[in-house]
Amino acid sequence: MTDRPEDQISTRASLLAIPLLIGAVVAVGLGVFARTHAAQHVSWHGPFPSMVSMKVWLTVAVLVFAAIQLVTALWMYGKLGIASPPWLGKVHRASGGLAFLTSLPVAAACLWVLGLHSTDTRVVLHGLLGCLFYGALVAKVLVLRGRRLPGWALPVVAGVLFTAVVGAALTSAVWWLSTHGIPT
Ligand code: HEM
Repeated sequence: MTDRPEDQISTRASLLAIPLLIGAVVAVGLGVFARTHAAQHVSWHGPFPSMVSMKVWLTVAVLVFAAIQLVTALWMYGKLGIASPPWLGKVHRASGGLAFLTSLPVAAACLWVLGLHSTDTRVVLHGLLGCLFYGALVAKVLVLRGRRLPGWALPVVAGVLFTAVVGAALTSAVWWLSTHGIPT
C-alpha cells in the first residue's frame, strides 16, 4: 500500500529531526566544553598586534562573508528579481567555506582560552550564539545533503545559522568597536 501525500509530507518533515539533533549535540557539546574546562593563559595573534585585534578583525571578515552568503542565497532563490548567473552557487559555497575557516581561530580563542562566561547578558548571549553557530552550521551541511527533506528546511536552518553568526558578531566585535574603538 502506498503512503498518502500528507503522510509523505510528515515523514519528510520528521526526517529533519536528524540533522537538527546532531546540530544540537554539537552546540551543547561545545557549550559544556567551554563551561567546564579551565581558562588558558595563552595568547596567539598571528600578524595582528594582539589577540583581541585578531578576533575583532577576523569577526568583521566573517560578517562580510555572511553578508555575501545572504545576498547570494536570496539571489539564487529568485528573491532579488534578477536572473541568477551560473557561477553564483560557487560564490555562495566559497563564501560559506571562507566564513567557517575565518571563524575557527576566533572561536578557538573564545572556547579554549576564555570559555563560556556568565558575567553579563551580552557575554552569556555571545557564548550561546557562538555555540549555536557551529551547531547550526553542522545542521545546514547535513540538510544540504538530505535529499528527502522538505524544501523549506534549508532556508530555515540557514536562517538560524545566519542569525547566530550575526548575533555572535554583534555581541563581540561590533560591541568592542563601538565601545573601545580600534583594538591595538
Ligand atoms: C563557540 C562559542 C563561543 C564562546 C563560548 C565565546 C566566548 C567568548 C567570551 C567569554 C568572550 C569575552 C567576552 C567579554 O568579556 O567581552 C568572547 C569575546 C569575543 N568573541 Fe567569542 N565566543 C564564542 C564564539 C565566537 C565566534 C563564533 C566569534 C566570531 C564569529 C566570536 C568572536 C569574539 C570576539 C570578536 C570577541 C571580542 C574579543 C575578546 O574579548 O577577546 N566568538 N567570546
